[in-house]
Amino acid sequence: MISCAAAVYGIGRYRERQSVTLAGLFVGVVNAAMAIALLAYAEQPLTLNSILLALGLGFVGGLLTAIFAAGGLPINESLFGILTDVKLLELSNADLPVLGQLALRAPGTNQHSHAVGQLAEDASRAVGANPLLARIGALYHDIGKVAAPEYFVENQQGENPHDHMRPSQSARIITSHVTYGVKLAKEINLPKKIADFIPQHHGTRTLHFFLRKAQAEAKPGEVIDEKDFRYPGPKPQFKEAAIMMLADSCEAAARFASASRSGKHSFDRGENCRRGDHRWSAGRVRPDASGNYHHSGSHDQRPNRHLPCSDRLSGFQSSQPQRPAGQIARRRTRQRRARH
Ligand SMILES: [Fe+2]
Ligand SMILES: [Fe+2]
Repeated sequence: MISCAAAVYGIGRYRERQSVTLAGLFVGVVNAAMAIALLAYAEQPLTLNSILLALGLGFVGGLLTAIFAAGGLPINESLFGILTDVKLLELSNADLPVLGQLALRAPGTNQHSHAVGQLAEDASRAVGANPLLARIGALYHDIGKVAAPEYFVENQQGENPHDHMRPSQSARIITSHVTYGVKLAKEINLPKKIADFIPQHHGTRTLHFFLRKAQAEAKPGEVIDEKDFRYPGPKPQFKEAAIMMLADSCEAAARFASASRSGKHSFDRGENCRRGDHRWSAGRVRPDASGNYHHSGSHDQRPNRHLPCSDRLSGFQSSQPQRPAGQIARRRTRQRRARH
């Protein structure tokens, strides 16, 4: 029992293969000490031979423990559905087909997922949740967007397809990234704990922008069902999922901020998202904003500025060119002069 406790204590967080070897050595030392203690307890003569035998067997026991633990780990993981840190690290491999597809077909979403993962990891560390689980969950939370990446603002470069669609149609496409993501997770046998991030990262929130738009465009007597504009859920069921949901909102806010005409003001808004983490300071968000946050919407178009996720901002980005403030001011001056 004491050896088992030593093994549990010795392994700590299993992120490197060396961890098992070190834990095995630790178990060997404890085994040897226990063997000598038992010899003394049984009032056996403590000769050099008996001590060497106890030490040797103790170390061999520790070594065998390490070998069996390392060899049996993959079997135990799949048999009992255990999600070890090593398994989580394996899931972060960018060469995995689903992550490769995400990077290729939806580079904006891929970048968004990494940024959310970084935020969620830091926040989880701060509150004592599992940082690695939160980061890996974030990498997969939007995999459903590979089906239609161009309908999500982070992947749009030019025209916004939502400009020419009915709000209910837009809402259906946007919410389907969750349902398709869940389906895809099943197909690729994603561990349940990671797959749970997909439906839970939006909870049961409503796509307010499209709901309002539908209500505004509704014909007299037409009934708009709020259910058509709601994510299926469920709400986050564990700490890391809740943290990732918040990180998703923060990343979307930083993305929104980068679209602002006023750089300083926008980055101040982005800064509100950080939890004492310098990586989310203005200086670090700025290069990303120029390279990846290709948001062309106007800051004045604010119907959904409080919407928490980039998915909700999909309807926000307008393909209409926006006039810079200086241009508008000059035009007004010309009009005033013309009147006089
Ligand atoms: Fe999403
Ligand atoms: Fe997201």
